[in-house]
Amino acid sequence: MGRISNFLSIFSYVVSVTSGTIYDGRVPYSASSAALDTSTGPFLTAVKGQNESASYYSEFLGHSALPTSLWNERGRPSEQVISIKIDNTSVFVPGGGPPQYGFRRTELIAQKNGNSTAVDEEMEIGTTVFHFSIKADPERPLNYSHEYQIVFIEPSDGTHVFGIQLGSPFTNPTSQLPAKNAHSFKVLDHALNVRFTTPFVPLVWHNFAIAVDWQNRTLTVSYSIEGFPTRVVTPTVGNPTVTAGTVGDFHFGLPLVNPQDSTVDQGDVVHHGIQEGTTEGLFYSGVFVDKGGQSS
Ligand SMILES: *[C@@H]1O[C@H](CO)[C@@H](O)[C@H](O)[C@H]1NC(C)=O
Ligand SMILES: *[C@@H]1O[C@H](CO)[C@@H](O)[C@H](O)[C@H]1NC(C)=O
Ligand SMILES: *[C@@H]1O[C@H](CO)[C@@H](O)[C@H](O)[C@H]1NC(C)=O
Ligand SMILES: *[C@@H]1O[C@H](CO)[C@@H](O)[C@H](O)[C@H]1NC(C)=O
Ligand SMILES: *[C@@H]1O[C@H](CO)[C@@H](O)[C@H](O)[C@H]1NC(C)=O
Repeated sequence: MGRISNFLSIFSYVVSVTSGTIYDGRVPYSASSAALDTSTGPFLTAVKGQNESASYYSEFLGHSALPTSLWNERGRPSEQVISIKIDNTSVFVPGGGPPQYGFRRTELIAQKNGNSTAVDEEMEIGTTVFHFSIKADPERPLNYSHEYQIVFIEPSDGTHVFGIQLGSPFTNPTSQLPAKNAHSFKVLDHALNVRFTTPFVPLVWHNFAIAVDWQNRTLTVSYSIEGFPTRVVTPTVGNPTVTAGTVGDFHFGLPLVNPQDSTVDQGDVVHHGIQEGTTEGLFYSGVFVDKGGQSS
């Protein structure tokens, strides 16, 4: 056993040095959704509703859906689409804490060899580029009166180094919903400034590449749709409120902030809220992290 895993880790080391890829969450066709239930492979699946399995909320779609064509090999797809869903059972109960009734959460967290902390240290140093592609799930539309945080890097202080948001930002008291820009992606920096926004159009893959300079604390956003190479859409902007030297877990998935808070618990949106009956979903593909300077 020990020998085999040594061989595998040397092999993956060689691959990552030659390709510049530090973390790869692109799911090969050989992978089965059962791996989600055991949290093996590139995804830690602990953040989900407590009473259902991980593969109830997330699955690999095999040949039934096409991933972003951006990373096709010789014109053919080489990865499966990941479907992620939330419904009214998606109440996460963190270890030792009370249930988070104000959220619905299904998130995949980047890990390598069963360790998300180790991959954070590897992919959050120097300048690294976080790639991910997102498409609407036509059968499980979002409710744009809600706020969705669909990709983010979360250090242990609960802040986000950057985040992608859809829907209406949570307001308390509730203002007019849905918000004007609810149907657009918003790329937020650590201080929650909107650095880039673009409409979430159905039927197309939206490709993002976010370069994070972990030493100088800056962000640069690149974006494209479908098979077009991503191009830089923002200047490199400071992200100075990130604590120096911090690293955090790379989450993608569908936590939803429910704005329907009770009066008594208005301030405590994490733990209080109602869960409506709908099921909402998104498709992901092209998730990986590489070294800066090689993004496109
Ligand atoms: C999960 O099951 C427990 C025990 O039956 C129950 O108390 C809890 O309400 C359930 N959670 C959800 C979100 O349905
Ligand atoms: C995971 O990685 C971290 C950081 O490299 C290390 O401190 C920790 O011991 C590892 N955990 C396990 C279970 O191997
Ligand atoms: C969308 O969310 C709002 C606010 O929670 C709710 O009033 C409305 O019924 C929801 N719409 C659907 C179609 O579920
Ligand atoms: C980081 O900041 C230093 C000091 O301001 C500067 O000299 C260097 O060029 C910056 N590096 C990058 C990659 O922007
Ligand atoms: C969840 O939604 C279904 C309808 O999709 C409904 O029958 C059920 O009562 C809801 N459960 C909770 C706990 O709200």
